[in-house]
Amino acid sequence: MISNSEVKKPEPISIGKTHNIFNQGADVEPAIQALERGESVLVREFYNDGLSLLHDLHKYLKLNLPNTSYKEQHEYRSEYHRLSNLILLEIVDQQLCVKKSPSIGWLEKFYPENNHFFLTLPQIQGLNSAWQWYQNGISIPVLRNKVHPYYGTYFPTRFEHLVLFDNWLKHYKGLKKTAIEIGIGCGVLSLQMIQHQFQKVYATDINPNAIIGLTEFMGTTKLSRKIELDLGHLFGKWDNQTELIVFNPPWMPGAHDFSNIDDAIYYNKTLFTDFFAAAKTRLLPEGKLVLIFSNLAQITNVTQEHPIERELEEGNRFKLERCFKKSVSAASSKSKRDQYWRASEEVELWALTHI
Ligand SMILES: C[S@@+](CC[C@H](N)C(=O)[O-])C[C@H]1O[C@@H](n2cnc3c(N)ncnc32)[C@H](O)[C@@H]1O
Repeated sequence: MISNSEVKKPEPISIGKTHNIFNQGADVEPAIQALERGESVLVREFYNDGLSLLHDLHKYLKLNLPNTSYKEQHEYRSEYHRLSNLILLEIVDQQLCVKKSPSIGWLEKFYPENNHFFLTLPQIQGLNSAWQWYQNGISIPVLRNKVHPYYGTYFPTRFEHLVLFDNWLKHYKGLKKTAIEIGIGCGVLSLQMIQHQFQKVYATDINPNAIIGLTEFMGTTKLSRKIELDLGHLFGKWDNQTELIVFNPPWMPGAHDFSNIDDAIYYNKTLFTDFFAAAKTRLLPEGKLVLIFSNLAQITNVTQEHPIERELEEGNRFKLERCFKKSVSAASSKSKRDQYWRASEEVELWALTHI
């Protein structure tokens, strides 16, 4: 059982320093100049004032930075990240002080003892949308029930890979006693396995919020006896052999250190070799190893290396049984700018067996 103190949450900023103030009707230029100098700007009156400052910050950056290629978009986002995180909001008694602000349940859950501090506006926006998703739940096409992603936990926003997995499960003929899922996130793949009559799933995640969130979500229901969780790297404490091992790993190379969510997106140099080596000893002789992946890193020219193909060529541990691919609809992209590479994006399901 992991304790709530392990939950990853925005670090409260203590009160004390004097700040630049931004209020309704104020000129945005001095505020943006202060941000550029690395000084914080406090929004004191209305929540909307903060949102309009963010809007103007975007306008300012668009005029000053190129934002077309994948690399430029990345640089644009990190500059926006740097400046917008200097915009502060004040929290007193677990409530935002600005008027007409959303009420965010995480403030009470995460900071029960801290009655006066600041958070940055993007942190508040993140907490706010996460609270909506958590409270309202998210419908996933292949699942009967909604999932309720906990703050800071990855959840899917496109579903093609889940459809691939669902089809694979429909045609799976092996035993369904036990499975292991690495990196359970908010639980979608494990819930699919349970829906397809797997009796028990042993799951891990390196992100405490994923484990805390699912533990809370399952409570003492029947589900909590079907999915057992462990906070840990790769297989964590699970060293039993199973007939199915599933991993939807991060799809992009590079180790970033912003937040927990990045562990869901970026993999480091050793993740795949460590995973395949450990999977070799956990997979039953007739078992299947299923990985979900995508050509995202390749079509964005981040790398031409494909870690699963590499394992098949060099690992000497597993062979390919089937690989299914499905193109991701370009229409799901919010931004027109992204579409030139989104258009050729494909998700992949790799089913491997022992050599
Ligand atoms: C792309 S997300 C997939 C989440 C979920 N399985 C799904 O399909 O929606 C990858 C997940 O793996 C977790 N993860 C990343 N590195 C890990 C590691 N070394 N050990 C265990 N989990 C890891 C991340 O925290 C994240 O929840």
